[in-house]
Amino acid sequence: MSVIEKIQVKPFLKWAGGKGQLISQMRAYFPGQLLNTGRMKSYFEPFLGGGAVFFRLASEFDFENIYLYEINPEVANCYRTIRNRINKLVGDLAELESEYLSKTEKKREAFYYARRTEYNELILSKVVNNCVRKASLLVFLNKTCFNGLYRVNSKGEFNVPFGRYKNPTICDEENLYAVKEVLKNAEIINGDFSLCLRYADSQSFVYFDPPYRPLSKTASFTNYCQAVFSDSEQRRLKDVFDKLDKKGALVMLSNSDPKNLDPKDNFFDDLYKKYKIVRLNATRMINCNADKRGEIKEILVRNY
Ligand SMILES: C[S@@+](CC[C@H](N)C(=O)[O-])C[C@H]1O[C@@H](n2cnc3c(N)ncnc32)[C@H](O)[C@@H]1O
Repeated sequence: MSVIEKIQVKPFLKWAGGKGQLISQMRAYFPGQLLNTGRMKSYFEPFLGGGAVFFRLASEFDFENIYLYEINPEVANCYRTIRNRINKLVGDLAELESEYLSKTEKKREAFYYARRTEYNELILSKVVNNCVRKASLLVFLNKTCFNGLYRVNSKGEFNVPFGRYKNPTICDEENLYAVKEVLKNAEIINGDFSLCLRYADSQSFVYFDPPYRPLSKTASFTNYCQAVFSDSEQRRLKDVFDKLDKKGALVMLSNSDPKNLDPKDNFFDDLYKKYKIVRLNATRMINCNADKRGEIKEILVRNY
């Protein structure tokens, strides 16, 4: 283990499917090499989102190389902006926070919708010079919208309504600087998960946390960006898993357990039958209605 005290860092975005609550159970299944020596050469997280597992690993272990992939360009931009332009980002976010918190609830709501419109104009425009503003607006909206969701409509506009929080922390300066520190040597790639095949080798640990296979037909939380993560995408992911396995990489993957709804649904048990599968206990939203939370199982697949 490193003698230098590690930075404690947590996700700066609230993210649907975020692994925060499962990490303590998942830790026992991290590679033995990592748990025993505290280090590995490379870490890959090809479905970054809020990065709960990455931040936990970065708070405890050392990696020479880190590769993070995210298909949503605005999320990738946000991570890059924290790494490259933290002072400007924190300044802008602090202003958004003080302006927001100084308002009455009614005025906060109007302020939220005005910022949402501004964000949509920026992300849909071709102007490239607005990276910092897009990143600070993304963090602001994430902290003030309903349930911290990221959802876009068919035109690509972020359309999550206002969330009623009493005193949200919008600019957690200390954590944002810690995030910048752990991203120092990270490659942040806006692209498809399969790109990890390019660099992963026998000294790599790869953790996949793809969009969930929906538990019910009404559960639409898999639509993070515009394309839905279908069963054929899950199969394409399995091919990438196999290729990484052949390269000798250590690979771990999470997903929802289809048996929560249909005990006869063996989709993942069949797909990953040649690997180890364990089931973890989770509490999460089981459909679009945030009140409907329940105890469910999640699966964890490993090739080691
Ligand atoms: C379940 S979330 C990851 C949650 C994350 N582990 C956390 O703890 O917050 C899946 C993420 O994968 C991204 N994604 C979806 N399809 C992708 C693809 N083909 N390649 C890379 N990322 C993708 C989504 O935008 C989303 O942010």
